[in-house]
Amino acid sequence: MPIRPRPVTGLRVLTAVSMLAASVSGASAHPSLYAQMGGTKVVAAFVSVTIDQVAADPKLNQSFRDVNLGRVKRELTSYICQLAGGGCKYTGIPIREVHANLGITQAQFFGLVQILRRQMRLHHVSLRDRNQLLALLAPLEPDVVDVKVGPPPRTH
Ligand code: HEM
Repeated sequence: MPIRPRPVTGLRVLTAVSMLAASVSGASAHPSLYAQMGGTKVVAAFVSVTIDQVAADPKLNQSFRDVNLGRVKRELTSYICQLAGGGCKYTGIPIREVHANLGITQAQFFGLVQILRRQMRLHHVSLRDRNQLLALLAPLEPDVVDVKVGPPPRTH
């Protein structure tokens, strides 16, 4: 019996065209972590409360004296957007540079993470997405904690 080619339905053509369009535009079939968390509306909201709480906590806030909290909130949101595949380009100060010489301890790093985790939960970010974002932030610890930048050592 001859093998007849299956008829190409309109739906299949449409699917193929939209897959091609997605691959050309760089869009993926899966939403990014950033989109899954709720996008800028949700991320900016949990970042804002987190920074307010860290800056108000005497155990965590020694580095926040005279700091423009609005800027930190904006830049941290943009950083998370880039990190979580939201399509932003972070244009702030590099993480290692901005935290240099602030004397931030490991306990303070975990203190901020704890507050961030709670605020994500209160903003209805799923456990899976919370863990995914924290896994992306954890490797930054050496760029935030106890970073000392001084003049280059003397060679003579
Ligand atoms: C994964 C953890 C962290 C990330 C991703 C992060 C990210 C950022 C970003 C994007 C900025 C703004 C950069 C700019 O102004 O261009 C910033 C500023 C700042 N961060 Fe963090 N941060 C983290 C942890 C911490 C911790 C644990 C502390 C202290 C408890 C802290 C204290 C500060 C302070 C004081 C500034 C403002 C510095 C200044 O304006 O001179 N950060 N951070």
